[in-house]
Amino acid sequence: MCGIIGYIGTKRARDILLTGLKRMEYRGYDSAGIATIEEDKVVSTRSVGNVSGLVEILKSKTHKGMAGIGHTRWATHGAPSEANAHPHTSGKVTLVHNGIFENYQEYKTALEQAGRKFHSQTDSEVLAALIDFEYENEINPRIAITNALKKVRGTFGLAILFEDQPDMIAVARRSSPLLIAKNGSAVFIASDQYALAGHASNATVLQDDEIAICRADNFEVFSMNDYPVGKEILKITASEESIGKDGYEHFMQKEIFEQPQSIQRTLSGRINKPLGTSQLGGINLTPKQLRGVKSMIFVGCGTAYYAGLLAKYLLEPIVKIPISVEVASEFRYRSVALNGNELSVVISQSGETADTIACVEELQLKGIPVLGVVNVVGSSIARLVDGGIYLHAGPEISVASTKAFSSQVTALLLLGIYLARQRDLNLGDGQELLEQLEALPKIIEEVLKIEKEIKVAARKFAKLPHLMALGRDLLYPVSLEIVLKIKELTYIPASAYPAGEMKHGPNALLSPEMGVIYLHGEGPLSEKSVSNLAEVRARKAQLLIFTDTEIDASKDEIVIKLPKSSHFAQGIIFTVAGQLLAYHMAIALDRNVDKPRNLAKSVTVE
Ligand code: G6P
Repeated sequence: MCGIIGYIGTKRARDILLTGLKRMEYRGYDSAGIATIEEDKVVSTRSVGNVSGLVEILKSKTHKGMAGIGHTRWATHGAPSEANAHPHTSGKVTLVHNGIFENYQEYKTALEQAGRKFHSQTDSEVLAALIDFEYENEINPRIAITNALKKVRGTFGLAILFEDQPDMIAVARRSSPLLIAKNGSAVFIASDQYALAGHASNATVLQDDEIAICRADNFEVFSMNDYPVGKEILKITASEESIGKDGYEHFMQKEIFEQPQSIQRTLSGRINKPLGTSQLGGINLTPKQLRGVKSMIFVGCGTAYYAGLLAKYLLEPIVKIPISVEVASEFRYRSVALNGNELSVVISQSGETADTIACVEELQLKGIPVLGVVNVVGSSIARLVDGGIYLHAGPEISVASTKAFSSQVTALLLLGIYLARQRDLNLGDGQELLEQLEALPKIIEEVLKIEKEIKVAARKFAKLPHLMALGRDLLYPVSLEIVLKIKELTYIPASAYPAGEMKHGPNALLSPEMGVIYLHGEGPLSEKSVSNLAEVRARKAQLLIFTDTEIDASKDEIVIKLPKSSHFAQGIIFTVAGQLLAYHMAIALDRNVDKPRNLAKSVTVE
């Protein structure tokens, strides 16, 4: 989603801004732009499309300034167009904005009546005009910004230039991340720590309703009530190397293949074999508090939600308490019946998903402890929650999430083992489950070896107009995650169902044009799964069967044999196979693998 970069120092800002924008491309965007201060005027260049397009346009423009701001925009108000791209200028003010100015219409009308003209359909241009309007009557730019922002309902991450203040950049935040880092005689501003990699090793995290004034040699942070405030420091863990492709063609492929190592990192130091339990240092709840938990609520969006769903299937039988799994955008507004003995777990790769953040606030307001299962260290969710488990999966750049999913499931299983051992699970069974987790990296390596076979199947299935994935028991949440990957990457309409549900409606969709990805796993429902498969066969749908057990198949059906694994590993194993399938289908269709259309990596608005 939208990205902000800013630089003020002793070098030309242009190239530093462009590098920062390139680093944030993975978040998904539809237009980009930069603005620099040139003596007493601000020069802006904006374009629709990717940063390379902006670079082309910049070849014929001069940006000499040593202070500037840049932005990648993901359209909310107004279609992707040059006029709607950031930066936006109004009078002396030029700004880039992440977030939504909800009551902008009210001020747009008032400002128009006062004679202001608008050139875009965005809420952000109105914000620039509002700040400029305040600046007409207030000499101090920080106070002018404060006066304007006090009128704003909604969210913002802002970097602001004033044409008559060439030696400063102002930044402000409410619910939209912003980092400020100083390195020698330069100050960097970014909404994403990857944009700061290589520039600084520490950054200050701006808090809600704080404004900072950045100059080349220093920056100061103030609250909106006009007093200097304490600064929270984040160690920048992303390095330039960690955000490279390492010889892979796409980030997604790299991230799929990294899973043995990313899971290993999630497990590292968290297994206590002698006691048959997990060691989770950041939970911040006493064993007694955890023993009092009577049910759990998992909350997330997209892949994170499906990770929660798979974990529910695996954990309810061993923790023996009810687990509900909730889509964050629904949960945040629902009147939920709670008894106060719940433990909630919010799951988020980025730690910045707006709906998930809202759920944290909602749950905390209701007095329910919230744990975070988060990948990005120091992210908003990681800071808000009462405790949590970091994934340590490393940067995930591809919009379609892969290694975060397997690490999220692994982290939830570690939590589940801990809770189960506090309850009925005996030492031997605890140790056996930990062994299942320890074996995960090796067994994933086995699945990755069958990439070629999956690629052949992908080429065939990429030609079909509709797809469906079916599975039973824990392979049902897996079918949902596989279909999400296929939709995101290939744009082929696809749905997922529990295989036993087919006769209640979806059977009507089956025909020779329908491709069915059938997940047939060894387990208690294996025989029932064979019967459901027969129903699909009877309707002559085209079949691709992933299985870790024996199955009879006709020669027109594709059967891909997956390694036999433990109960805890099975869902992840089938998911990895599905990730490879979706990846190779996208390649066959020549899709933009790492940046699918209309999608953003980190959804920081509602
Ligand atoms: C977006 C991404 C998905 C991701 C979801 C939740 O939709 O495209 O890949 O699963 O957000 O993101 P989070 O960072 O909260 O896990």
